[in-house]
Amino acid sequence: EAAEKGGYEHFMIKEIYEQPKAVRETMTSRVAKDDSGITFDELKWTKDDVAGIKKIAVVACGTAYHAGIVGKYLIENLARIPVEVDVASEFRYRSPLVDDQTLAIVISQSGETLDTLAALKEAKNLGARTLAITNVVGSSIAREADQVIYTWAGPEIAVASTKAYTTQLVVMAMLATYMGAIKGTLAQEKVSELCNALRELPNQVHELLEDVEPIKTFAQQYGFNEDVFFIGRSLDYAVALEGSLKLKEISYIHAEAYAAGELKHGTLALIIEGVPVIALATQHDVYEKTLSNIKEVKARDAVVIGIGLKGDKQIEKYVDHTIFIPATNKFLTPILSVIPLQLLAYYAAVTRGCDVDKPRNLAKSVTVE
Ligand code: AGP
Repeated sequence: EAAEKGGYEHFMIKEIYEQPKAVRETMTSRVAKDDSGITFDELKWTKDDVAGIKKIAVVACGTAYHAGIVGKYLIENLARIPVEVDVASEFRYRSPLVDDQTLAIVISQSGETLDTLAALKEAKNLGARTLAITNVVGSSIAREADQVIYTWAGPEIAVASTKAYTTQLVVMAMLATYMGAIKGTLAQEKVSELCNALRELPNQVHELLEDVEPIKTFAQQYGFNEDVFFIGRSLDYAVALEGSLKLKEISYIHAEAYAAGELKHGTLALIIEGVPVIALATQHDVYEKTLSNIKEVKARDAVVIGIGLKGDKQIEKYVDHTIFIPATNKFLTPILSVIPLQLLAYYAAVTRGCDVDKPRNLAKSVTVE
Protein backbone atom coordinates (compact mmCIF):
# COMPACT_ATOMS: atom_id res chain seq x y z
CA GLU A 1 0.00 0.00 0.00
CA ALA A 2 2.87 2.39 0.81
CA ALA A 3 4.13 1.96 -2.75
CA GLU A 4 0.70 2.76 -4.14
CA LYS A 5 0.69 5.97 -2.14
CA GLY A 6 3.79 7.06 -4.03
CA GLY A 7 5.45 8.70 -1.06
CA TYR A 8 2.36 10.49 0.18
CA GLU A 9 0.98 9.86 3.64
CA HIS A 10 -2.57 9.24 2.43
CA PHE A 11 -4.34 8.44 -0.82
CA MET A 12 -6.43 11.57 -0.42
CA ILE A 13 -3.48 13.96 -0.52
CA LYS A 14 -1.92 11.97 -3.37
CA GLU A 15 -5.16 12.31 -5.32
CA ILE A 16 -5.40 16.03 -4.51
CA TYR A 17 -1.94 16.45 -5.99
CA GLU A 18 -2.87 14.39 -9.05
CA GLN A 19 -5.46 16.97 -10.05
CA PRO A 20 -3.38 18.99 -12.52
CA LYS A 21 -2.72 15.78 -14.46
CA ALA A 22 -6.27 14.47 -14.09
CA VAL A 23 -7.82 17.71 -15.27
CA ARG A 24 -5.46 17.75 -18.25
CA GLU A 25 -6.34 14.15 -19.17
CA THR A 26 -10.06 14.95 -19.04
CA MET A 27 -9.56 17.65 -21.66
CA THR A 28 -7.18 15.75 -23.91
CA SER A 29 -8.55 15.43 -27.45
CA ARG A 30 -11.69 17.27 -26.37
CA VAL A 31 -10.59 20.90 -26.07
CA ALA A 32 -9.07 22.09 -29.34
CA LYS A 33 -5.50 23.34 -29.00
CA ASP A 34 -6.37 26.38 -31.12
CA ASP A 35 -9.35 27.10 -28.83
CA SER A 36 -11.79 26.68 -31.73
CA GLY A 37 -14.17 24.42 -29.81
CA ILE A 38 -14.98 21.23 -27.95
CA THR A 39 -15.33 17.78 -29.51
CA PHE A 40 -16.80 14.70 -27.91
CA ASP A 41 -16.06 11.73 -30.17
CA GLU A 42 -18.31 9.65 -27.92
CA LEU A 43 -21.30 11.94 -28.58
CA LYS A 44 -21.06 13.52 -32.04
CA TRP A 45 -24.33 15.38 -31.48
CA THR A 46 -25.95 17.26 -34.34
CA LYS A 47 -27.93 20.47 -34.13
CA ASP A 48 -31.13 18.37 -34.23
CA ASP A 49 -29.91 16.15 -31.41
CA VAL A 50 -29.36 19.15 -29.17
CA ALA A 51 -32.54 20.91 -30.31
CA GLY A 52 -34.45 17.76 -29.32
CA ILE A 53 -33.41 18.13 -25.68
CA LYS A 54 -36.13 20.14 -24.00
CA LYS A 55 -35.04 19.41 -20.48
CA ILE A 56 -32.10 17.86 -18.67
CA ALA A 57 -32.41 15.83 -15.47
CA VAL A 58 -29.11 15.43 -13.62
CA VAL A 59 -29.06 12.67 -11.02
CA ALA A 60 -26.21 11.72 -8.66
CA CYS A 61 -25.19 11.28 -5.02
CA GLY A 62 -22.82 13.14 -2.69
CA THR A 63 -19.93 14.87 -4.36
CA ALA A 64 -21.16 13.86 -7.81
CA TYR A 65 -24.47 15.56 -6.95
CA HIS A 66 -22.53 18.72 -6.13
CA ALA A 67 -20.89 18.51 -9.55
CA GLY A 68 -24.43 18.29 -10.95
CA ILE A 69 -25.41 21.54 -9.23
CA VAL A 70 -22.48 23.30 -10.92
CA GLY A 71 -23.53 21.60 -14.16
CA LYS A 72 -27.04 23.03 -13.91
CA TYR A 73 -25.66 26.52 -13.61
CA LEU A 74 -23.31 26.04 -16.56
CA ILE A 75 -25.76 24.33 -18.92
CA GLU A 76 -28.56 26.78 -18.19
CA ASN A 77 -26.25 29.74 -18.71
CA LEU A 78 -24.28 28.55 -21.70
CA ALA A 79 -26.75 26.31 -23.55
CA ARG A 80 -30.04 27.75 -22.25
CA ILE A 81 -31.63 24.35 -21.57
CA PRO A 82 -33.59 23.93 -18.31
CA VAL A 83 -31.86 21.57 -15.88
CA GLU A 84 -33.15 19.85 -12.75
CA VAL A 85 -30.73 18.25 -10.31
CA ASP A 86 -31.78 15.48 -7.93
CA VAL A 87 -30.07 13.27 -5.43
CA ALA A 88 -30.57 9.79 -6.82
CA SER A 89 -32.30 8.42 -3.72
CA GLU A 90 -35.01 11.09 -4.11
CA PHE A 91 -35.39 11.06 -7.88
CA ARG A 92 -37.07 7.73 -8.34
CA TYR A 93 -39.53 8.16 -5.51
CA ARG A 94 -40.90 11.51 -6.60
CA SER A 95 -42.55 10.47 -9.85
CA PRO A 96 -40.21 12.64 -11.96
CA LEU A 97 -41.48 14.42 -15.08
CA VAL A 98 -39.19 12.76 -17.58
CA ASP A 99 -40.00 11.80 -21.17
CA ASP A 100 -38.39 11.25 -24.58
CA GLN A 101 -37.51 14.92 -24.84
CA THR A 102 -35.47 14.69 -21.65
CA LEU A 103 -31.78 13.98 -21.44
CA ALA A 104 -30.96 12.27 -18.16
CA ILE A 105 -27.35 12.81 -17.09
CA VAL A 106 -26.14 10.55 -14.30
CA ILE A 107 -22.83 11.35 -12.64
CA SER A 108 -20.90 8.74 -10.68
CA GLN A 109 -17.20 8.34 -10.03
CA SER A 110 -17.45 4.60 -9.41
CA GLY A 111 -20.28 3.92 -11.81
CA GLU A 112 -21.61 1.48 -9.20
CA THR A 113 -23.71 3.60 -6.81
CA LEU A 114 -26.93 1.68 -6.48
CA ASP A 115 -29.31 4.62 -6.19
CA THR A 116 -27.74 6.34 -9.21
CA LEU A 117 -27.95 3.14 -11.26
CA ALA A 118 -31.60 2.70 -10.29
CA ALA A 119 -32.36 6.32 -11.19
CA LEU A 120 -30.72 5.77 -14.57
CA LYS A 121 -32.92 2.73 -15.19
CA GLU A 122 -36.00 4.69 -14.11
CA ALA A 123 -35.17 7.55 -16.51
CA LYS A 124 -34.66 5.03 -19.33
CA ASN A 125 -38.00 3.38 -18.58
CA LEU A 126 -39.67 6.76 -18.81
CA GLY A 127 -38.21 7.19 -22.30
CA ALA A 128 -35.35 9.58 -21.61
CA ARG A 129 -32.08 9.58 -23.52
CA THR A 130 -29.34 8.82 -21.03
CA LEU A 131 -25.77 9.97 -20.65
CA ALA A 132 -23.39 8.78 -17.94
CA ILE A 133 -20.43 10.77 -16.68
CA THR A 134 -18.21 8.31 -14.87
CA ASN A 135 -14.62 7.49 -14.09
CA VAL A 136 -14.70 3.72 -14.26
CA VAL A 137 -14.60 2.09 -17.68
CA GLY A 138 -17.11 -0.71 -18.08
CA SER A 139 -18.85 0.03 -14.76
CA SER A 140 -22.53 -0.87 -14.35
CA ILE A 141 -23.63 2.73 -14.98
CA ALA A 142 -21.37 3.03 -18.04
CA ARG A 143 -22.91 -0.16 -19.46
CA GLU A 144 -26.49 0.85 -18.75
CA ALA A 145 -26.42 4.37 -20.21
CA ASP A 146 -26.99 5.14 -23.92
CA GLN A 147 -23.84 7.25 -24.04
CA VAL A 148 -20.84 7.69 -21.74
CA ILE A 149 -18.32 10.44 -21.11
CA TYR A 150 -15.35 9.18 -19.11
CA THR A 151 -13.61 11.60 -16.78
CA TRP A 152 -10.20 9.87 -17.11
CA ALA A 153 -9.17 10.91 -13.59
CA GLY A 154 -7.37 7.62 -12.90
CA PRO A 155 -8.25 5.37 -9.94
CA GLU A 156 -9.60 7.20 -6.90
CA ILE A 157 -8.98 5.21 -3.70
CA ALA A 158 -9.67 7.64 -0.84
CA VAL A 159 -13.29 7.66 0.28
CA ALA A 160 -13.30 11.46 0.04
CA SER A 161 -13.66 12.31 -3.61
CA THR A 162 -11.31 15.00 -4.94
CA LYS A 163 -9.97 14.48 -8.45
CA ALA A 164 -13.21 12.81 -9.50
CA TYR A 165 -15.08 16.01 -8.58
CA THR A 166 -12.76 18.44 -10.39
CA THR A 167 -12.76 16.27 -13.51
CA GLN A 168 -16.58 16.00 -13.37
CA LEU A 169 -16.66 19.80 -13.30
CA VAL A 170 -14.36 19.94 -16.32
CA VAL A 171 -16.71 17.57 -18.18
CA MET A 172 -19.69 19.73 -17.21
CA ALA A 173 -17.95 22.88 -18.45
CA MET A 174 -16.97 21.18 -21.73
CA LEU A 175 -20.46 19.72 -22.20
CA ALA A 176 -22.19 23.05 -21.57
CA THR A 177 -19.83 24.79 -24.01
CA TYR A 178 -20.29 21.99 -26.57
CA MET A 179 -24.08 22.19 -26.39
CA GLY A 180 -24.09 25.99 -26.39
CA ALA A 181 -21.89 26.03 -29.50
CA ILE A 182 -24.05 23.51 -31.38
CA LYS A 183 -27.27 25.22 -30.35
CA GLY A 184 -25.93 28.65 -31.19
CA THR A 185 -26.58 30.16 -27.77
CA LEU A 186 -22.85 30.69 -27.36
CA ALA A 187 -20.94 32.96 -29.77
CA GLN A 188 -17.67 31.62 -31.20
CA GLU A 189 -15.76 34.26 -29.27
CA LYS A 190 -17.16 32.96 -25.97
CA VAL A 191 -16.43 29.37 -26.99
CA SER A 192 -12.81 30.33 -27.64
CA GLU A 193 -12.56 32.18 -24.32
CA LEU A 194 -13.84 29.13 -22.47
CA CYS A 195 -11.50 26.76 -24.32
CA ASN A 196 -8.57 28.99 -23.55
CA ALA A 197 -9.51 29.25 -19.89
CA LEU A 198 -10.01 25.48 -19.67
CA ARG A 199 -6.53 24.85 -21.03
CA GLU A 200 -5.04 27.14 -18.36
CA LEU A 201 -6.60 25.13 -15.55
CA PRO A 202 -3.96 22.41 -15.00
CA ASN A 203 -1.27 25.03 -14.39
CA GLN A 204 -3.56 27.05 -12.17
CA VAL A 205 -4.44 24.00 -10.05
CA HIS A 206 -0.73 23.26 -9.82
CA GLU A 207 -0.08 26.83 -8.67
CA LEU A 208 -2.65 26.44 -5.88
CA LEU A 209 -1.03 23.22 -4.71
CA GLU A 210 2.35 24.93 -4.43
CA ASP A 211 1.22 27.11 -1.55
CA VAL A 212 -0.45 24.96 1.09
CA GLU A 213 1.29 26.25 4.26
CA PRO A 214 -1.32 28.93 5.12
CA ILE A 215 -4.10 26.36 4.72
CA LYS A 216 -2.27 23.90 6.97
CA THR A 217 -1.98 26.66 9.57
CA PHE A 218 -5.72 27.48 9.42
CA ALA A 219 -6.51 23.79 9.79
CA GLN A 220 -4.32 23.56 12.87
CA GLN A 221 -5.75 26.80 14.28
CA TYR A 222 -9.42 26.00 13.76
CA GLY A 223 -9.35 22.22 13.48
CA PHE A 224 -10.70 21.71 16.97
CA ASN A 225 -13.80 23.85 16.53
CA GLU A 226 -17.00 21.86 16.64
CA ASP A 227 -18.86 23.81 13.94
CA VAL A 228 -17.79 25.40 10.68
CA PHE A 229 -19.98 27.25 8.18
CA PHE A 230 -19.46 27.69 4.46
CA ILE A 231 -21.20 30.51 2.63
CA GLY A 232 -21.33 31.71 -0.97
CA ARG A 233 -23.68 32.79 -3.73
CA SER A 234 -24.35 31.24 -7.15
CA LEU A 235 -21.44 28.99 -8.17
CA ASP A 236 -19.72 29.76 -4.88
CA TYR A 237 -22.70 28.25 -3.07
CA ALA A 238 -22.31 25.02 -5.05
CA VAL A 239 -18.65 24.85 -4.03
CA ALA A 240 -19.58 25.66 -0.41
CA LEU A 241 -21.74 22.53 -0.41
CA GLU A 242 -18.82 20.43 -1.54
CA GLY A 243 -16.37 22.05 0.91
CA SER A 244 -18.74 21.34 3.76
CA LEU A 245 -19.26 17.69 2.78
CA LYS A 246 -15.50 17.17 2.47
CA LEU A 247 -14.81 18.64 5.90
CA LYS A 248 -17.52 16.70 7.72
CA GLU A 249 -16.86 13.31 6.14
CA ILE A 250 -13.19 13.12 7.01
CA SER A 251 -12.68 15.40 10.03
CA TYR A 252 -16.09 14.79 11.71
CA ILE A 253 -16.44 18.53 12.29
CA HIS A 254 -20.06 19.62 12.00
CA ALA A 255 -20.08 21.67 8.81
CA GLU A 256 -22.95 23.39 7.03
CA ALA A 257 -23.12 25.21 3.74
CA TYR A 258 -25.53 28.06 3.21
CA ALA A 259 -26.41 30.28 0.31
CA ALA A 260 -25.04 33.51 1.74
CA GLY A 261 -28.36 35.26 1.14
CA GLU A 262 -30.15 32.69 3.29
CA LEU A 263 -28.24 33.48 6.48
CA LYS A 264 -30.86 35.90 7.73
CA HIS A 265 -33.52 33.22 7.37
CA GLY A 266 -32.21 31.17 10.27
CA THR A 267 -28.54 30.26 10.28
CA LEU A 268 -27.36 33.64 11.51
CA ALA A 269 -28.66 32.56 14.93
CA LEU A 270 -25.77 30.09 15.10
CA ILE A 271 -23.07 32.59 14.27
CA ILE A 272 -21.38 33.55 17.52
CA GLU A 273 -17.93 34.70 18.54
CA GLY A 274 -15.11 32.57 17.21
CA VAL A 275 -17.16 30.35 14.86
CA PRO A 276 -15.19 29.82 11.66
CA VAL A 277 -17.00 30.85 8.47
CA ILE A 278 -15.46 30.06 5.11
CA ALA A 279 -16.79 32.69 2.71
CA LEU A 280 -16.38 32.21 -1.02
CA ALA A 281 -16.46 35.45 -3.01
CA THR A 282 -15.32 34.69 -6.54
CA GLN A 283 -18.41 35.71 -8.53
CA HIS A 284 -18.37 39.28 -9.85
CA ASP A 285 -22.11 39.63 -10.36
CA VAL A 286 -22.90 38.89 -6.70
CA TYR A 287 -19.66 40.12 -5.19
CA GLU A 288 -21.03 43.16 -3.36
CA LYS A 289 -23.92 41.14 -1.99
CA THR A 290 -21.54 38.48 -0.71
CA LEU A 291 -19.44 41.17 0.97
CA SER A 292 -22.48 42.42 2.83
CA ASN A 293 -23.16 38.85 4.03
CA ILE A 294 -19.54 38.66 5.20
CA LYS A 295 -20.09 41.88 7.15
CA GLU A 296 -23.15 40.28 8.79
CA VAL A 297 -21.15 37.35 10.14
CA LYS A 298 -18.21 39.56 11.10
CA ALA A 299 -20.60 41.73 13.10
CA ARG A 300 -21.32 38.58 15.18
CA ASP A 301 -17.56 38.09 15.71
CA ALA A 302 -17.20 35.04 13.49
CA VAL A 303 -13.71 34.24 12.25
CA VAL A 304 -13.92 34.59 8.48
CA ILE A 305 -11.65 32.91 5.96
CA GLY A 306 -12.37 34.47 2.59
CA ILE A 307 -11.74 32.75 -0.73
CA GLY A 308 -11.22 35.45 -3.31
CA LEU A 309 -9.84 35.99 -6.78
CA LYS A 310 -6.24 37.08 -7.13
CA GLY A 311 -6.22 40.82 -7.67
CA ASP A 312 -9.21 41.44 -5.38
CA LYS A 313 -8.07 44.36 -3.22
CA GLN A 314 -11.25 44.68 -1.20
CA ILE A 315 -11.89 41.32 0.41
CA GLU A 316 -8.99 41.46 2.87
CA LYS A 317 -10.55 44.48 4.57
CA TYR A 318 -13.56 42.42 5.63
CA VAL A 319 -12.17 39.01 6.55
CA ASP A 320 -9.63 37.63 9.02
CA HIS A 321 -7.67 35.54 6.51
CA THR A 322 -7.77 35.31 2.75
CA ILE A 323 -6.94 32.54 0.32
CA PHE A 324 -6.59 33.75 -3.25
CA ILE A 325 -7.28 31.62 -6.29
CA PRO A 326 -6.02 32.44 -9.79
CA ALA A 327 -8.41 34.48 -11.91
CA THR A 328 -10.27 32.46 -14.55
CA ASN A 329 -13.49 32.49 -16.57
CA LYS A 330 -16.32 32.88 -14.06
CA PHE A 331 -17.88 29.57 -15.07
CA LEU A 332 -14.67 27.70 -14.21
CA THR A 333 -13.97 29.16 -10.75
CA PRO A 334 -15.36 26.09 -8.88
CA ILE A 335 -12.54 23.95 -10.31
CA LEU A 336 -10.05 26.23 -8.54
CA SER A 337 -11.92 27.37 -5.44
CA VAL A 338 -12.60 23.81 -4.30
CA ILE A 339 -8.85 23.03 -4.06
CA PRO A 340 -8.20 25.04 -0.85
CA LEU A 341 -11.36 23.51 0.64
CA GLN A 342 -10.13 19.99 -0.10
CA LEU A 343 -6.81 20.86 1.53
CA LEU A 344 -8.51 22.43 4.53
CA ALA A 345 -10.57 19.28 5.06
CA TYR A 346 -7.50 17.09 4.66
CA TYR A 347 -5.31 19.01 7.10
CA ALA A 348 -8.16 19.37 9.62
CA ALA A 349 -8.61 15.58 9.56
CA VAL A 350 -4.87 15.04 9.98
CA THR A 351 -4.78 17.56 12.86
CA ARG A 352 -7.58 15.69 14.59
CA GLY A 353 -5.91 12.33 14.05
CA CYS A 354 -8.73 10.94 11.91
CA ASP A 355 -8.49 8.00 9.55
CA VAL A 356 -8.36 10.22 6.45
CA ASP A 357 -8.71 7.62 3.71
CA LYS A 358 -11.28 5.46 5.47
CA PRO A 359 -13.61 7.65 7.50
CA ARG A 360 -15.88 5.89 9.96
CA ASN A 361 -19.18 4.47 8.67
CA LEU A 362 -18.45 5.30 5.02
CA ALA A 363 -17.62 3.19 1.97
CA LYS A 364 -16.01 4.30 -1.27
CA SER A 365 -18.86 3.04 -3.32
CA VAL A 366 -22.40 2.67 -1.96
CA THR A 367 -23.87 -0.40 -3.58
CA VAL A 368 -26.80 -0.80 -1.19
CA GLU A 369 -29.88 1.35 -0.82
C1 AGP B 1 -17.50 11.98 -1.62
O1 AGP B 1 -16.41 12.49 -0.94
C2 AGP B 1 -18.23 10.91 -1.00
N1 AGP B 1 -17.48 9.92 -0.35
C3 AGP B 1 -19.52 10.46 -1.64
O2 AGP B 1 -20.41 11.51 -1.42
C4 AGP B 1 -19.55 10.07 -3.13
O3 AGP B 1 -19.32 11.17 -3.93
C5 AGP B 1 -20.92 9.43 -3.46
O4 AGP B 1 -21.08 8.26 -2.69
C6 AGP B 1 -21.11 9.14 -4.91
O5 AGP B 1 -20.24 8.17 -5.38
P1 AGP B 1 -20.09 7.88 -6.91
O6 AGP B 1 -19.60 9.15 -7.54
O7 AGP B 1 -19.11 6.76 -7.01
O8 AGP B 1 -21.45 7.52 -7.44
